[in-house]
Amino acid sequence: MKILGFIIGAHSCGAAYYVDNEIKAVIEEERLTRIKPHTDYDNNFERYPVQSIRHLIDRFGLKLSEIDYFTSFLPTQTGIDIFKAMYNYEIAPEKYVHIDHHESHAIFSYLTSGFQEDTLVFCADASGGVNAHSSKTYLGSKGKMTYLDGLNTKRRSLGHFYAALTELVGFRRLKDEGKVVGLAGHGHLWERLYNVWSDVIKIEGTKTNEDNHPIESGEVYVDMYTKFHQFIGSKYWKNKNVLEDIAHTGQRLFEDRVISLINNLHAKVPHTKKLALSGGIFSNVKLNKRINELDQFDEIYVLPPMGDEGLALGCVFGTLNKLNPNPPKRLDNVFLGTEYTKEEVLNAGKEFKRIDLDIDFVCEKLLDRKILALYQGKSEHGPRALGNRSIICDCTHKETYGILNGKLERNDYMPFAPAIIDEDVDKVFHLTKSKYTAEFMTLLVDTKEEWKEKIPTVVHPVDKTARIQIVTKESNPLFYQILKSYQKHTGIGILVNTSFNVHNEPIVEKPEEAFNHLRNGIIDYLVTPYGIFYC
Ligand SMILES: [Fe+2]
Repeated sequence: MKILGFIIGAHSCGAAYYVDNEIKAVIEEERLTRIKPHTDYDNNFERYPVQSIRHLIDRFGLKLSEIDYFTSFLPTQTGIDIFKAMYNYEIAPEKYVHIDHHESHAIFSYLTSGFQEDTLVFCADASGGVNAHSSKTYLGSKGKMTYLDGLNTKRRSLGHFYAALTELVGFRRLKDEGKVVGLAGHGHLWERLYNVWSDVIKIEGTKTNEDNHPIESGEVYVDMYTKFHQFIGSKYWKNKNVLEDIAHTGQRLFEDRVISLINNLHAKVPHTKKLALSGGIFSNVKLNKRINELDQFDEIYVLPPMGDEGLALGCVFGTLNKLNPNPPKRLDNVFLGTEYTKEEVLNAGKEFKRIDLDIDFVCEKLLDRKILALYQGKSEHGPRALGNRSIICDCTHKETYGILNGKLERNDYMPFAPAIIDEDVDKVFHLTKSKYTAEFMTLLVDTKEEWKEKIPTVVHPVDKTARIQIVTKESNPLFYQILKSYQKHTGIGILVNTSFNVHNEPIVEKPEEAFNHLRNGIIDYLVTPYGIFYC
């Protein structure tokens, strides 16, 4: 059976191709157009997965006439019309499967959680779907989901609350939320502001408070700004320390509200001990840390492509589930993008010096504090690079943070993330549960006291937390070997892992883009299965 999932929309755009029990490929339009994010929400300018589907046709032999089901969160006629406009191809209505926006988020997280027990499935974002919602909750049981509750546009959106906070502290809403998480770690709780804002978003049972604004994004912006300016008066407030405290206070209120809502939803199905999460708000690793600390769940799972980039494949999972519900099964990894051939890599890198892949050489250069990039296999699906399109380097020297930030033109208050070999996790970090989800860099964890000063590039300078990626032999053999070799020399298998791109660019997709980083001096060595390249 062949299924093509596709998405257009406010936050992402792309396509997923499934053939006979195998996810052939998922591609986001931004990886091909090199414009991030592909859809410009601020200008209300939506784009379409034209290049994504063309890529699947050219690279994976997709033939539109052979597709059994086309699926999207767009209503049937809209989906058919848009497809015709893009490809002059008329989808027969019986071949089109409409999966609701939030159902797509939720079913993708539930079916890839691996949870065999009854599971609380919760998704939340800014908003989405035909009957716009900002959250939906289900009980997952034996491969099927039963709807429990939801927040429509008459209720305030948790995602828009955080977007309003993002804008208030000077960043771009629905784009730079990750920077606010980092900024929040530098600040302190401003109790008076917390109290002023406490009515902006409230939890009443399993709902947020009412929202009566005529525009979908809602009253939450107006209320938050108005209350803030009434509170602060005419004082000049945009200095850095105040921004840190505002971010911290908004983040804390946001966490408290999400946790209250999850607690109240859990009270509807108190027997559940597993929690599957998806939707854009769960890119907030600080929030995920708090949720993972809740006693009522013995494991949580955050969908790695938690935001709208996951909707194309989410719709494929939704379609499969409608046809034949199967129990949840973990993904082996999220390397679901495109692999480029040896010939393509060698051809793109022919102007550079090359030696055969040699792990000892890689390790020597890491110890020498060089900056390397790993370019191998299929690209990652989702916002995090996990060792196939990653920049790696030593994390034990304080100066590395500034050097790497400068090279990548990055300034997001977040430390870099550590990739750590599975056997060393307990030595360095406090993480007693949800280790599977920590393979995807979706959780923040506390660092053990004796390690806080030893790995400064990858722990937050103030709260000493880290956004870890656990690397196993199975999940990424080459990255594992590199970490293992580094461990032999240093006693610890831990390195910086940051996505292979400069600030505001999408993650590297094609070999040419990888070699551009070598050419421009951003990296010192490019490590591929077909050799190590350098200038
Ligand atoms: Fe969404």
